[in-house]
Amino acid sequence: MTPPSAIAARLRAAGCVFAEDEARLLTSAARTPDELAAMVERRVRGLPLEHILGWAEFYGLRVQVDPGVFVPRRRTEFLVSQALAVCRPGAIVVDLCCGSGAVGAALSSATPTIELYATDIDSAAVECARRNLSALGGRVFEGDLLDALPAALRGRVDVLVANAPYVPTGAIERMPPEARLHEARLALDGGADGLDVQRRVAAAAPAWLAPGGYLLVETSQAQAAHTMAVFAQNGLTPKVVHSDDLDGTVVIGTGG
Ligand SMILES: C[S@@+](CC[C@H](N)C(=O)[O-])C[C@H]1O[C@@H](n2cnc3c(N)ncnc32)[C@H](O)[C@@H]1O
Repeated sequence: MTPPSAIAARLRAAGCVFAEDEARLLTSAARTPDELAAMVERRVRGLPLEHILGWAEFYGLRVQVDPGVFVPRRRTEFLVSQALAVCRPGAIVVDLCCGSGAVGAALSSATPTIELYATDIDSAAVECARRNLSALGGRVFEGDLLDALPAALRGRVDVLVANAPYVPTGAIERMPPEARLHEARLALDGGADGLDVQRRVAAAAPAWLAPGGYLLVETSQAQAAHTMAVFAQNGLTPKVVHSDDLDGTVVIGTGG
């Protein structure tokens, strides 16, 4: 096997910031020298580390992430912690736009008594989320936002969590190539101002929330005031919370 120090040097030269950590992870994941060489080559060509390894670390869990599926970001751990703060045992929880199912997996692991549902419109994400959530008792549905859920959940959802796409279309070209080239456009593109999917979520949410239920949506600091306005326009009372440590921003809304 090529020594990790030589791999780290190659990764560093290719622009990987955490080259030593990545070299260690790739070395322990590869079963043969050829496999290691192929993995390093893919990383040097710009594939996200998580797509090469097949998993991402999220909220202390190892979450499977298939090629093309959105890689869960550290900042989204803040969305998880905010949802856990309002999640009582036995709550009905929906992870909307679930991607790999990382958010739902973290919520379910921390509060195993919740009844967890997850949805995504992308069949690759749905397949990946099913693998991550089935052992935790989560049920995953494919389809457009809340329309994918069983109708029997209308008016009964206690906590509705969404890390929906919120990158303005024009900003996608400024994203790192790892995201721009290797994650589905559908997972990133939030329309002209980034709020198109959030608007649809906020408009549909009140019909699905239980009395006193919560909608939590990840956004950016720059977009937070607009996300709050979208909540208010749909009868939800919003507040914004931010974590400097994780650079995470979440708008939390309560219904009637
Ligand atoms: C930013 S990714 C977040 C994934 C996951 N929640 C996470 O934090 O790792 C957004 C996800 O929304 C999904 N998506 C986009 N439009 C959707 C729609 N209309 N209905 C359901 N899911 C949608 C994408 O397929 C993608 O998996």
